Amino acid sequence: MDSWFEAGHVAIVTGGSKGLGKEIARELLTRGLHVIIDGRDGRLLETAAKELRQGGDLITIAGDVSDKEHAHALIAAARELGRLDLLVNNASTLGEVPLPRVDELTKGTFEHIFDVNVFAPIHLMQHALPLMQQSSIATIVNITSDAGVEAYPTWGGYGASKAALEHISRVLAAELESPSIRVLVADPGDMNTQMHRDAIPDADPSELRNPADSARALLQAIAEMKEPYGRVRLADLVLA
Ligand SMILES: NC(=O)c1ccc[n+]([C@@H]2O[C@H](COP(=O)([O-])OP(=O)(O)OC[C@H]3O[C@@H](n4cnc5c(N)ncnc54)[C@H](OP(=O)(O)O)[C@@H]3O)[C@@H](O)[C@H]2O)c1
Repeated sequence: MDSWFEAGHVAIVTGGSKGLGKEIARELLTRGLHVIIDGRDGRLLETAAKELRQGGDLITIAGDVSDKEHAHALIAAARELGRLDLLVNNASTLGEVPLPRVDELTKGTFEHIFDVNVFAPIHLMQHALPLMQQSSIATIVNITSDAGVEAYPTWGGYGASKAALEHISRVLAAELESPSIRVLVADPGDMNTQMHRDAIPDADPSELRNPADSARALLQAIAEMKEPYGRVRLADLVLA
């Protein structure tokens, strides 16, 4: 399984200062990858980095994924390392909490959700592709949600953004001429993270998944990928 994650490979994981992104970064570092992470809160990012750097070579760049200059800085950091083998579009927003019903969803909130959850990943993918094409095998992972498929009341804005991200991912995979780049859409399931606490504050944490398990499942899903496009529910994977 680990041949996909060779020491010296380079990965960008957006939203790596907590939750799922931090655990994905931790897993990749233990396999010897150079990992570039971001997050808007620079202090939180550096606190996470102190912990993660014990595992390997980590670069942090504080910023907002919806800021184009910041996205370019992420790609530039990978370019300086000479390659980009894995891009994980993980950073995401709920827009506003409590989550609004569709009849209360404002254009401003909807646009903000799409800026972060859809346009930012598209922009990063567009700028990452030329560098990724130089790798013998490279993977784009877009983190989605069951809210992009199921009709949960109040999850319309966020869910629509994840549905859009999934469809863009499918189309990108169909367009890619290079068989060496694969696109994986991964639904991590309900996890015990800040985003879940913000969305559903009264959820029982003992019923939620540890994001570290989802991170391990994601790496397994990448390693097991056979087609140029895949969609996986990480909660369904039996960890090896
Ligand atoms: N938690 C769940 O149950 C669940 C379920 C289904 C899908 N997901 C998906 O899983 C992914 C990870 O979620 P999570 O639960 O781990 O979230 P989380 O614990 O809230 O962590 C989100 C990470 O993204 C960063 N981030 C947020 N907005 C950003 C922006 N605009 N630019 C750059 N970084 C940003 C955060 O740092 P800053 O706040 O400092 O920017 C943090 O590092 C998301 O795509 C989410 O939609 C989560």
